[in-house]
Amino acid sequence: PVIYAITPTYARPVQKAELTRLSHTFMLVQNLHWIIVEDADDKTPLVANLLRKSDIPHTHLVAPTPQEWKRKEKEPNWKKPRGVLQRNKALEWLRNELSYDVTTDQGVVYFADDDNSYSMEIFDEMRKIKKVGVWPVGLVGGLMVEKPILNKTTHKVAGFNSGWRPERPFPIDMAGFAINLGLLVDHPEAQFSLTVEGGYQESEILRHLVTREELEPLADYCTKVYVWHTRTEAPKLSGEAQLRKKGMRSDQDMEV
Ligand code: UGA
Ligand code: MN
Repeated sequence: PVIYAITPTYARPVQKAELTRLSHTFMLVQNLHWIIVEDADDKTPLVANLLRKSDIPHTHLVAPTPQEWKRKEKEPNWKKPRGVLQRNKALEWLRNELSYDVTTDQGVVYFADDDNSYSMEIFDEMRKIKKVGVWPVGLVGGLMVEKPILNKTTHKVAGFNSGWRPERPFPIDMAGFAINLGLLVDHPEAQFSLTVEGGYQESEILRHLVTREELEPLADYCTKVYVWHTRTEAPKLSGEAQLRKKGMRSDQDMEV
């Protein structure tokens, strides 16, 4: 099956570094189609150039988050969801634009944020998915690893170890599951929402698609970590701010 990796991305100082790292991971993966959706009004040259250089089969889309849904500088980061309209745009493209024959072709959809760290193995794992596959995610939710807990005899998902809002229907991170494309095409109501509570995006899409019992545990019965919810520190750019006050910049005529 083809893996459709959906990546929301937005302009900030580390964007090119993040996307370079991610593209170099994806270059190692066979049969991957990268759907990159910019949180912007128009496609930017930075992203367009990077995609062109990478040689990865891709689709470049845009979907701006309205100003009132953008996180303010000091606002806690669980207050407003990120990547929602961008992921929905990609889902819309998959459902309406991709010429896809559910009976003859197969696909798997994965929401791959631009700042996480991905091991090659995770992509091999997700090709086994029939409906929705799940696996552990490192460095998330205040834990070293968040993971599904399996029933020892049936090997089915019996629960989750999440300590943060464990009452969620699916207390897992976006990086911890992938979905069969046919299932998404058959359930056009399955999407993300700006108005659900913090931490409920994953549950919001999954509730239309599977029950907990149907989840397919991967990564060696959820004993291996192949993806990490890393977050990149925002660089301190005080010198740059000084320069700009004087009408100068260190990156004149350079893309950083
Ligand atoms: C956690 C989850 O891992 C995300 O999948 C989830 O979207 C997010 O929480 C949430 O609460 O909405 P976190 O690391 O806090 O992730 O989120 P980011 O990595 O900052 O953002 C997720 C994705 O959205 C990234 O690919 C990022 O580039 C993109 N994004 C972020 C935008 O497109 N626009 C923004 O204004 C901010
Ligand atoms: Mn992140």
